[in-house]
Amino acid sequence: MSTAVAIDPRLDLFEEIARLKKEKNAVILAHYYQDADIQDIADFIGDSLQLSQEAAKTNASIILFAGVHFMAETAKIISPSKKVILPDMAAGCSLADSCPPAAFKAFKDKHPDHVVVSYINCSAAIKALTDIVCTSSNAEKIIESIPTDKKIIFAPDRNLGAYLKKKTGRDMVLWDGACMVHEIFSLEKLLRLKERYPEADVLAHPECEAAILDHADFIGSTTAILNYALQSTKQQFIVVTESGILHQMKKAAPEKEFIPAPPNANCACNDCPHMKLNTLEKIYLCLRDESPEIILDEKLRLEASASIERMLAISK
Ligand code: 13P
Ligand code: SF4
Repeated sequence: MSTAVAIDPRLDLFEEIARLKKEKNAVILAHYYQDADIQDIADFIGDSLQLSQEAAKTNASIILFAGVHFMAETAKIISPSKKVILPDMAAGCSLADSCPPAAFKAFKDKHPDHVVVSYINCSAAIKALTDIVCTSSNAEKIIESIPTDKKIIFAPDRNLGAYLKKKTGRDMVLWDGACMVHEIFSLEKLLRLKERYPEADVLAHPECEAAILDHADFIGSTTAILNYALQSTKQQFIVVTESGILHQMKKAAPEKEFIPAPPNANCACNDCPHMKLNTLEKIYLCLRDESPEIILDEKLRLEASASIERMLAISK
């Protein structure tokens, strides 16, 4: 039975979600890549680091994660006493999927004496094989916290890894993974946009390929990109990340112009198909039924939590 059939069409989903949140002491944490409506009903919107910090400190009994599976799983690892629910369990992540645990364990074994730093976009099993987790907003700080005589493995994103190698000067061994959304931006189309908007600053996420990052005026996490655009005196910005971020940009600075960078495919902007699986209808059902719920094996949770706790301690 489809979601649409299961819901009474007369229901005002905005009101129902607000009622359920209050009734159940639930909080909605949303990532910037969610649809505008979802961002508007969220209690907190942030980048991956801010969302994990919020999950660690919330007093709510239920965390509804409007994001993808690894984000909700991270919330459960940090806050095991809370019920963590995800509107659609199929909301995965191509980057997390590009790093299967058994293959990564073999890779790690080939590089003994290396400190393992993993981007938060990975499974609990990878986090359990990791020394320190990082996000795009604290990755440099995390790498710099590691003594210079230590060798480093960086996983799973080869693009963020290459960017960090350049930024920090550290020679890291990279896992060969990537994000399907950030890898398909078209350099040719970006260069054409730059010609059309010569005054615009190019703002890019470090999950993009080096050829794209070479043309960026600013590189950072979703929150950092948003803050840069709001604080800048410039009026036009070419935004090279998932298009969901444009909602907060337009809301906070309606007088400025935000131009989404197009992918290789024949469309104007770039959506993450996993992030976009979440809908208001699924959020309503998820809150009503308190399902689907993230359930984690306690041994795995404990093994995975140490690498996240280290990140949170360094990021304070
Ligand atoms: P940040 O919001 O931490 O920059 O992450 C981007 C992303 O791709 C999340 O899946
Ligand atoms: Fe994963 Fe990329 Fe989607 Fe983020 S945008 S959830 S990294 S596939």
